[in-house]
Amino acid sequence: MSELKQETRRPVVTLDGPAGSGKSTTAKEVARRLGFRHLDSGGLYRALTLALLEEGVPREEWPDLTEDGMRALPVHVASEGSEFVIEVGGRPMKSELRTPEVTANVAFLASLPASRACLLGLQRAAGEQGSLVADGRDMGSVVFPGAEVKVYLVADLTERARRRLKEGGGSDPADDEVEREAGVIAERDRQDSERELSPLRKPEDAHLIDTTRLDFVEQVKAIVALVEAQGTE
Ligand code: CDP
Repeated sequence: MSELKQETRRPVVTLDGPAGSGKSTTAKEVARRLGFRHLDSGGLYRALTLALLEEGVPREEWPDLTEDGMRALPVHVASEGSEFVIEVGGRPMKSELRTPEVTANVAFLASLPASRACLLGLQRAAGEQGSLVADGRDMGSVVFPGAEVKVYLVADLTERARRRLKEGGGSDPADDEVEREAGVIAERDRQDSERELSPLRKPEDAHLIDTTRLDFVEQVKAIVALVEAQGTE
């Protein structure tokens, strides 16, 4: 009975939360363990931002772009196995989406109605078959309000800054570096929380997980357990 339910349900799992709370790496590993696909929605907003920067469109003109204008940017998403590969100008993207320049501009781009409208259908299409772990800011609140399992990840600001600086295998950052990074993250959180459309907030029905003192393996296990419990309810 429970096996049949698990097969027919094919859940969508959403992971939302502020910058540096570990959503993407956690979502990727949760998806791998469950045999689901992983959608990094922040990567899509970053890709639109990079495309605009590469095309040399001045930032003050971004609010004038229509949904079709956004859609005409050379951003494509290809489904490859369990991953969605994001391409900008025909090139598959990874670290290029996480440069300081893209990071400094992405929250502004993401506050524009045309960018959100442009990406909504694409994100929902990725979840149509279920079996998806989607991470971002509005996955549980706006894009997949009916998701079977919703998680909201938080962690102390200083801890998030420290993790961000250590990404890519760096050594322990100095206190002043952590403080600077915390300021940058706090400003992006402010923009994401205060915008009018799809602001960052915990969906009421999301499980709150504070990862400040959890290690990576523990937080992955906690989410996989929630999904497995849901399948046998
Ligand atoms: O990895 P990090 O938490 O730094 O950010 P991200 O997930 O790559 O998202 C980058 C930015 O995209 C966020 O700061 C938001 O401004 C925007 N975003 C959004 O508005 N809605 C989403 N579902 C995902 C990202």
